[in-house]
Formats: sequence, structure tokens, C-alpha cells
Amino acid sequence: MTRKPGKRSLDFFDLQFARQIAQREFALNPFEQAIIPFLSGEVLDLGCGLGNLAQAAARNGCTVTALDASRSAIEHLARCASQERLRIEAREADLRSIAIRGQFDCVVAIGLLMFLPPPAARAALTRIQSLVRPSGLAAVNVLVEGTTYLDMFDPAGYCLFRERQLPEAFAAWAQEYLAIETFPAPGDTIKRFCTVVARRPSGRLPKRQRASRGK
Ligand SMILES: C[S@@+](CC[C@H](N)C(=O)[O-])C[C@H]1O[C@@H](n2cnc3c(N)ncnc32)[C@H](O)[C@@H]1O
Repeated sequence: MTRKPGKRSLDFFDLQFARQIAQREFALNPFEQAIIPFLSGEVLDLGCGLGNLAQAAARNGCTVTALDASRSAIEHLARCASQERLRIEAREADLRSIAIRGQFDCVVAIGLLMFLPPPAARAALTRIQSLVRPSGLAAVNVLVEGTTYLDMFDPAGYCLFRERQLPEAFAAWAQEYLAIETFPAPGDTIKRFCTVVARRPSGRLPKRQRASRGK
């Protein structure tokens, strides 16, 4: 039998999502707020949770594919999208391996990769990069080393990234936003995050080089 993705993490989020739906608590988190102004065109939101970012992006004119392992979160998002007639396709998916075809103008993964075991997290980051069209954007947010709040993790596998791991992974891209931030968490612990928004190179040679190649 295939094990459910990070059962303890999913149970943690299912409880949190049930409480948020009951209390109608749908405010964008600070990472979503920072990233939304960068989004346009076709957006892939990996680990979308309740879909607050997906809905905000769709209201701004984006077409969004939103994936998450939490059935209750996906059902909530699909309901909201259909009520407001937003262009969102919400699907339940285990993102330990990202089986999606095509490329997108923007690929977003806020707070997802740390819930995957380290080899899967590294592979997912590479996969995210390949899902971005030339000149498109990746927006990625992860927990980094120094984080001491661990309640939401499944002991079977999680990944705290090195502080500079995301900017290093996007070294060949144009980095449009970088933030490393610490937030207090329950029980005198902390959460430390790195957020990167980076633009994939166009893949076209600069004009002068194109001209000299044509000679
Ligand atoms: C910290 S929440 C972030 C949600 C949303 N992106 C946000 O910023 O509010 C992490 C999300 O990752 C999802 N998740 C964790 N492991 C997953 C997996 N293996 N496959 C798909 N989704 C997963 C959880 O269900 C949860 O919605």
C-alpha cells in the first residue's frame, strides 16, 4: 500500500483548514501578499492550501491550476471558484512527485517543499524550474535551518533548506525578490523562511550575438 504523503503534516493542515473555514479566516499570508503583484498569465500554484493566493490571482485575471494533497482544501477552493466563476482548476495531488505537463508563466510553491523528504524536495525544486516558461517566473518559499517549530512535520521526512539554498538554486535566473524572515511560533520557538521570486532567462541570445551568428 502506498503511504499517504506526510500523514502527520496533512492531519495538521486538515485541522487548521477546518478551523479557518469555520471562522472564515481567509486573509492572505505575508508571502502571498509579497508574491501576488508578480503574477500574470497562466499560474501553477503547488501546495495551494485553501487557495487564497489562487483566488486573488484569478481575480487579477490569471488562469490558475491549483494543486494540494488536502481534499478538504481542494473542495473548498473548487466551491469558491465555482461560486465566483473564477478561472481556477483545483485538483487533489500528491506533490512528492510533480506529475504535470506543459509550462506556465508563473509557478508558485509557498510553504510546500519543506514537507517533502530532502531528495524529493530537491527534485521538486528542479521540476518547478522546468515548469516555468522562458521569461516566466518562479515564486518559492521554504522554511530554512534555524527553524525550531517542528509540530507540523511528519517525522518520516521533511526538509529545512540551507538559508542561501534557494537564491543559489536560482543563481542563473534574474532574482526579482528575496526575503529571509523570522517569525515567532508557539512554545517560544521560531519559524525562519526564505522567499525567492526569480525570472527564467528567455533562452534567446542577446541581439548583438544573434547578429554575429547570422554572419
Ligand atoms: C504551509 S501550507 C501552505 C499553503 C498555502 N500555499 C499558503 O501559503 O497558505 C502547506 C501546504 O502543503 C500541502 N502539502 C504538504 N505535503 C504535500 C504533498 N506531499 N503533496 C501535496 N500537498 C502537500 C498541505 O496540504 C498544505 O496545504
